[in-house]
Amino acid sequence: MTKWLNDSMAQSLNGSPRAPRAVFLIGFMGAGKTSVGQALAELLGWRFLDLDQRIETQQGRTIAEIFSRSGEQVFREIEAAALRELLAELGAAPAIVALGGGAVLREENAALLAACGAPQVFLDAPFEVVRQRCGQTVAARPLFREEDQARRLYESRRPQYLNAQYRVDTSSRSVKQVAAEIVRALSLEPRGESR
Ligand code: S3P
Repeated sequence: MTKWLNDSMAQSLNGSPRAPRAVFLIGFMGAGKTSVGQALAELLGWRFLDLDQRIETQQGRTIAEIFSRSGEQVFREIEAAALRELLAELGAAPAIVALGGGAVLREENAALLAACGAPQVFLDAPFEVVRQRCGQTVAARPLFREEDQARRLYESRRPQYLNAQYRVDTSSRSVKQVAAEIVRALSLEPRGESR
């Protein structure tokens, strides 16, 4: 895993260790944010929160329906509001949070996430890998229906995802291996291993 240190992490390495109360998983569609997030939450005994699931529950319609009936702009407004609420409700119980692939690209969302201070982990994989993973589910992903367009989106977004403090290449690893690597890299404590 590639690792970048921000100020708060550098501080924690300098003698005031403080376990994060949340970890955000970011990356392109098909990166494995939901499946890795669930495995990671299970490993740690933390809550798992998924921003897209929250949106679908709140709205009573799928992401694909929101896109097709109301358009992307409306979806982005809904997404930003849902993220604000989720962050406000985070509280003391630690959580793994999977964000939709476009959530971190909006400036307002990125600023809120940065202010929250919890680490962001970029789940990285080559376009061919995410395309294959999305194979069965493109209908549920409005921005992945057209391959060339999805490839361009992937290429334009990747530099922004690389701003995350951590990056893990998920292409040749199982979901469990990726989760275990995140635990190691962030020095988290797996459930049942209290020191
Ligand atoms: C989107 C990703 C989707 C979902 C929406 C838009 C994007 O989530 O939020 O279709 O802009 O990348 P996943 O990344 O979980 O597929």
